[in-house]
Amino acid sequence: MNIIRKKTWQINENEVTPKELFEKRRNFIKLGAASIISSGAVMQALAKEDFPKITLDFIKDKNINNLKLNTFEQITSHNNFYEFTTKQSAVKDIAHTLNTDNWKVTIDGLVENPMEIDLDDLVKMFTLEERIYRFRCVEGWSMVVPWNGFSLASLVKKVKPLSRAKYIRFETLVDENSFPDQKRGRFGVIDYPYIEGLRMDEAMNELSFLATGLYGDIMPKQNGAPIRLVVPWKYGFKSIKSIVKISFVEHEPMNTWQKENPKEYGFYANVNPNVDHPRWSQKKERVLGSFLKQKTLMFNGYENEVASLYNGMDLKKYF
Ligand code: MTE
Repeated sequence: MNIIRKKTWQINENEVTPKELFEKRRNFIKLGAASIISSGAVMQALAKEDFPKITLDFIKDKNINNLKLNTFEQITSHNNFYEFTTKQSAVKDIAHTLNTDNWKVTIDGLVENPMEIDLDDLVKMFTLEERIYRFRCVEGWSMVVPWNGFSLASLVKKVKPLSRAKYIRFETLVDENSFPDQKRGRFGVIDYPYIEGLRMDEAMNELSFLATGLYGDIMPKQNGAPIRLVVPWKYGFKSIKSIVKISFVEHEPMNTWQKENPKEYGFYANVNPNVDHPRWSQKKERVLGSFLKQKTLMFNGYENEVASLYNGMDLKKYF
């Protein structure tokens, strides 16, 4: 029997609206308003320009699991973005140096349709959606975020991987003028560019998402503007920010944190309360803004959607 179940993030076709506003908004940002976009003055300017508060158009997530959203303030004030600083509360104040003008994404490697494409043109190829996801950092904090963007699978289908392509490798921008820690050269906190990877079947899973915004607006710089990955069943470090390159490759890519510390971080990084980090337990997490801890869920609560990807794998070995 073939039962078609509606996915959490699916909604009726008639709730889709056009997406010109995305471009309009990006043009506005290009006028130089990016670093002060959340200030009252800019919001007033936006209102005058007849921009709705929610500037992107997207298919809404019905949030059938009734996840309680973290506030915009919480999501944008506690960030891991080593290219700026390791101080999580400080990223938001210095992230304005990230230059997202004329952002291009290169898609290369083992694909039929490689391309170097303007972000705006890339986004136009897809229908924007909202995905309300749990997000769990390996450090033990978590949040619930309403992301906007499109599924990674939809991009993969467009570029048509060759059969030899078994993994996708993602790369963050290298630009000393955008990122202060990259200016420090070999004294930087980690080796740049920041690299992440997914196995092809993980990338094709419907949950894997390329986010270009959150809370209905373009992506704040501290959260990985203008385009980042979101893989909600994996620890947050897999969700690479400010992507400039997506490569289809034959072999498992060496991701940044595995390279930095292979005893503590692996390639898979699936959220798993039963496999502790060598230095702390992963059984519980503190949601941003909460005092008490809550239990961490297997695959961050997405077991039904992703457990089959790892059938027969020892998750202690492939951590
Ligand atoms: N991507 C880049 N390029 N640089 C980073 O330092 N940090 C990762 C991930 N992506 C990181 C990155 C980690 S450790 C986490 S937990 C998440 O981004 C944090 O995302 P957030 O700041 O939007 O919460």
